Amino acid sequence: MIDFSLSDDLLEIQSRARHFAQSEILPIAAEYDRKAQVPPGITAKARAAGLLNVTIPKEYGGMGYGALQSAIIAEELGAACAGISITILVNGLSLTPVQLFGTEEQKVKFLRPVAEGAKLAAFCLTEREAGSDAGALKTTALPDGDDFVINGQKCFVTSGGLAEIMTVFALTDPDRGARGVSAIVVPADTPGIRVTKVEDKMGQRASNTVELTFENVRVPQANLLGKRGHGFSIALQTLDFGRSGVAALSVGVARAALEYATAYAKERHQFGVPIIVNQGVSFMLADMAMKVEAARLLTWQAAWLADTGTRATGKSAMAKCFASDTAMEVTTCAVQIWAGNGYMRDYPVEKLMRDAKLLQIYEGTNQIQRMVIARQLGK
Ligand code: CAA
Repeated sequence: MIDFSLSDDLLEIQSRARHFAQSEILPIAAEYDRKAQVPPGITAKARAAGLLNVTIPKEYGGMGYGALQSAIIAEELGAACAGISITILVNGLSLTPVQLFGTEEQKVKFLRPVAEGAKLAAFCLTEREAGSDAGALKTTALPDGDDFVINGQKCFVTSGGLAEIMTVFALTDPDRGARGVSAIVVPADTPGIRVTKVEDKMGQRASNTVELTFENVRVPQANLLGKRGHGFSIALQTLDFGRSGVAALSVGVARAALEYATAYAKERHQFGVPIIVNQGVSFMLADMAMKVEAARLLTWQAAWLADTGTRATGKSAMAKCFASDTAMEVTTCAVQIWAGNGYMRDYPVEKLMRDAKLLQIYEGTNQIQRMVIARQLGK
C-alpha cells in the first residue's frame, strides 16, 4: 500500500522544525549571510528543539530519527536558510561513519558528548586534488606504535573551524590506493591540526567552510572506524545517506523561492494588473511548483528506502541531483519574477539563488550524481 500522507509523528516533527526555522533562523538569516558567520548559540537552540543530531540513536543522546524524519526537518530548515541549516545537518553526515561502523565503545565515546553537548562534527574527505575523484586522496595516517600519525590537507570542510570532532579519511596503506583508505575519528583539539584557510563563499555564507592542515597529528589506532582499508567504502556509504539530506535541503530552498515568487507575482502590479495574470509569469510558477513537488517525492522515496535498510545509492543520487537542480532553477526563476528587486540584497530571493548553487556542488557534484545513476543503470 502507498500512502503519501504524513503520519502524526512526522507532522509533529514538521511543525516543530517549521516553528524553529521561521522563528529562530529566518529572522537572522540575512544578517549572518552578510557577516559570513554561523550564528553563535544556534546549535544549542537546535538541540533544545530536538533538531540537532537527530539521527544519533537515543541511547547515545540523540533523537533516534531515521532518514525520512531527518528529511522533513532538513526541508523546513532549508526553507529558512541553507547556510545555517547545513551547519546543523552536517553533523549527521560527519557522525554517520561512527553510527554505522563504530564499536559500542566508540559510539559511547564519540557520539554521546557531541549529542549531549550540542557540539559540531566535521567530515574530512575532500582534498585539493581529490574532489570528485575522492578515492585519490593523499593524506596519510601511518601506523606508529599504538597510534596513527596523520599528515596532509583537507579542504572545503564544513564546520571544520568549529567542530570538536572530525571523521578523517586518510591512507593508512598508501600503496593500496583507494583500498588503503581508512576512516578515523580525530578530536579537533589534537595537537597539529590547524585551520589554514577560511573560505569566502558565494552562498551559504552563514556556514563555516575551511581548509585544515594536519601535521604529525597523533591519534590512537583505537579510533579507527570499521576495518583498516575500508574507509573509501565507508565514505561512499555515508554519502548515500547524506545525499537525501541535501535533496531535502534543496526542496526547502526551492519551496521558499516558489512561495516568495508567488506572493510577489500576486502583489506586484504592472499595466494595471498583478503580474501573475500574465501567462509568461504564471507558467513559470506552474513549472516551479511541479518541480518542487517532484523533487520532494523523489527525496522522500530515497529517504524511505534508506530507512528500510535497502542500499539507496541510485535513488539518493537521483534525489540529490534532481532536487538541487530544481533549487537552482526555481530560485533563478524567482529572481526573474522579482526582476530588479529580486537582484537586490534588500530582498530574500537573491540569497536563495546564491545558496542554491552550492547544493549542486557539495556531497558530490551533480555530474558525479549522474555518473552514479548511470553506473547503477548499467549494473
Ligand atoms: N557504497 C559502498 N561501496 C561503494 C559505493 C557505495 N555507494 N559505491 C562504490 N562503492 C565501492 C565499489 O564497489 C568499489 O569497491 P571495490 O574497490 O571493492 O571494487 C569501491 O567502492 C570504489 O568504487 P568505484 O570504482 O565506483 O569508485 P570510483 O573512484 O570510480 O568513483 C565516485 C566513486 C562515485 C565517483 C566517488 O568518488 C564519489 O562519490 N565522488 C564524489 C565525492 C563526494 O561526494 N564528495 C563530497 C564531499 S563531502 C561534502 O561535500 C560534505 C559537505 O561539506 C557539506
